[in-house]
Amino acid sequence: MLCFDSHAHLDDRRFDEDRERIFATLREQGVGWVMNVGCDLASSRRSIALAEQYPFVWASVGSHPDDADRVNGKLLDTYRSLASHEKVMAIGEIGLDYYYEDVPRARQIIAFEEQVELAEALKLPVIVHMREAWQDAMEIVRRHPDLRGVFHCFSGSRECALWLAERGWYVGFTGVVTFKNARKAVECVEALPLERILIETDCPYMAPEPHRGRRNDSRYVPLVAGKIAEIKKLSLEEVAAATCQNARTLFGITE
Ligand code: NI
Repeated sequence: MLCFDSHAHLDDRRFDEDRERIFATLREQGVGWVMNVGCDLASSRRSIALAEQYPFVWASVGSHPDDADRVNGKLLDTYRSLASHEKVMAIGEIGLDYYYEDVPRARQIIAFEEQVELAEALKLPVIVHMREAWQDAMEIVRRHPDLRGVFHCFSGSRECALWLAERGWYVGFTGVVTFKNARKAVECVEALPLERILIETDCPYMAPEPHRGRRNDSRYVPLVAGKIAEIKKLSLEEVAAATCQNARTLFGITE
């Protein structure tokens, strides 16, 4: 059994001491594939470098809503050329964050939609970060009916999750689903068909129980699969296989 960690930031400096060791022990911990996600230009470049170094790592490029004020024509051109790399399989993470609102909402919306249009032009899926911005995110999804992707580390309601699933989108779950107070995420997992669920660590953040509060890494993604198996009354193997296939389908990974 091998899991696909569909959202990791293993390029983060918090892994500088032991990154090689983590990659060397992924497989024996039940993790076969990793999508390393960019949040800005520097981390997008680092994600590609990791994907070049490790055959089981893929990359995405894009600017997080926290960095939306730096998205301009020149940066979009750079992402466009980086996206021609054979291991760049998505644009992200992009989106809206009205919880922290580091960048004014109107600016976030523009940067999100410009990157959505880049993804459409390149026929790539998107990896969406969305926090407390459901109405505006829904509006952008509606405006782009052919766009596909994942709402990662999903924090919305059951109704929102089902709304996305009906439109062919995926919903990503992290270690949050293992927390004692994770009622909302558990309800979403219960309601969603397995074919629309992705598992992820979002490491170094969101460590699952029993590691909550500590640095997370991709080796813990089987704990997320285990919790989803428990919620859906399936075996760990079934959840690992289905979510792996979902990630491969979304990102267009055939090998
Ligand atoms: Ni992330």
